[in-house]
Amino acid sequence: MKILGIETSCDETACGILDGWTVLANVLHTQEVHAEFGGVVPEIASREHLRLLPGIVRQALEESGLQIDDLDGICFTRGPGLAGPLLVGASFARALALEAGLPLWGVNHLEGHLAAVRLTFPDLAPPFLCLTVSGGHTEFTLVGADGSFTELGATRDDAAGEAFDKAGKLLGLGYPAGPVLSRHAKAGDRAAFAFPRGLLQDPGLDLSFSGMKTSVLRECQKLKPEGVRERRDDLCASIEEAIVDTLVEKTARALERHDLPGVAVCGGVSANGRLREKLAARCERMGAWARFPDLALCTDNGAMIAAACLAALERGRDLPVAVDPRLSLSPQIES
Ligand code: KG4
Ligand code: ZN
Repeated sequence: MKILGIETSCDETACGILDGWTVLANVLHTQEVHAEFGGVVPEIASREHLRLLPGIVRQALEESGLQIDDLDGICFTRGPGLAGPLLVGASFARALALEAGLPLWGVNHLEGHLAAVRLTFPDLAPPFLCLTVSGGHTEFTLVGADGSFTELGATRDDAAGEAFDKAGKLLGLGYPAGPVLSRHAKAGDRAAFAFPRGLLQDPGLDLSFSGMKTSVLRECQKLKPEGVRERRDDLCASIEEAIVDTLVEKTARALERHDLPGVAVCGGVSANGRLREKLAARCERMGAWARFPDLALCTDNGAMIAAACLAALERGRDLPVAVDPRLSLSPQIES
C-alpha cells in the first residue's frame, strides 16, 4: 500500500511517502522565520505552509519515483496542533485527493510520533509503554495488545520540549533551544546547579516542568549576564540533567506499576542524546527495553503521518477528516 502523508501541525511543512513500512521519501522544511519571534507565530506558519506545500509534495513524489496515480491514498495531520496550519494542510490534502480521485484520511499527530518508532523497529508490538515528549506534549500512554491507548499520566503544565525551549531562551540560545542546549550540555557539569525535578516525589505518573523556567530565571538574575555567559555549559548540563532524570524515573515507575516489557519514546525530545543514554541504561537494569525512532524521524515529519495512517488502516479503524486542534491520543473513543 502506497500512502502520501502531509504534516502541517506546527512549523514544519512536510510530506512523506511510504510503500508499506518502507519510507520512499520524507521531505521537510523547517520554517526558520519564527526564530526571531522566539516561538511559532500561527499566522506566519499558515502562510508559509501554503507557500511551501506544492514544492514539498512535488519533491517527495520525485524522490519516491512515483506518480500521484500510483498512490493508494492521501493522509494529513488533523490534530492536535495549531488551527490555521492544520486547516492549510487539510485543504491541500483534500484538493490533492479530489483531483487524483484518491481516498483521504485524517491522522492524529501523536499517533504519528508513535508510528515513527515502528518505522524504525518494524517488529514493535503492543503491549508497551509509550512516552511522548515533544514541544507541545509530555505524556505516558499504555498501548494495549488490541492497539488501544490509555493515558497513564501527563504533564500538568509545560511539556518537556517547552521546558528546554523556555530555559534555553533565557540563556539566549534562540528557538527551538532543545538541540542547542543539549550540545552545550556535553561540555558542562551536570551537578553544577540544582534545578527542580517536578513531582518526582509524587507517587503518581504526572509530571511538571513549569518550575524549571522560574528556577533558571532566578539563577540568571544571580549570575548577571556575564556570569550566565561564563557558566552557560554548566547551566545547560544541569537543566538537561534535571529534565532527563525526571523523565527516566517516572518512566521506570510506569513500567513497574503496569508490568510492561518496555517503552517506545517519541516526539522531538526523543532525539535527546542524554535521555537516550540514561533511559536505555535504566531500562536495561530493570530487564526492560527502550526504543527510540531514528533521529530523522523524531521531530515532525510526513513519513510518520503516513505510517500512523497505515497502522490505523491495518486495524480497520476509521480515519475521520475533520480538523481538531485539541485531539488527544484516544482514538478508540473519538467520534
Ligand atoms: O515533536 P516536535 O518536532 O514538535 C512538536 O510536536 O512539538 O518537537 C519539538 C521539540 C522542541 O521543543 C525542541 O526543542 C525539542 O523537541 N527537541 C529537543 C531536541 N531536539 C528537539 N529537545 C532536547 N534535546 C534535543 N536533542
Ligand atoms: Zn510533533
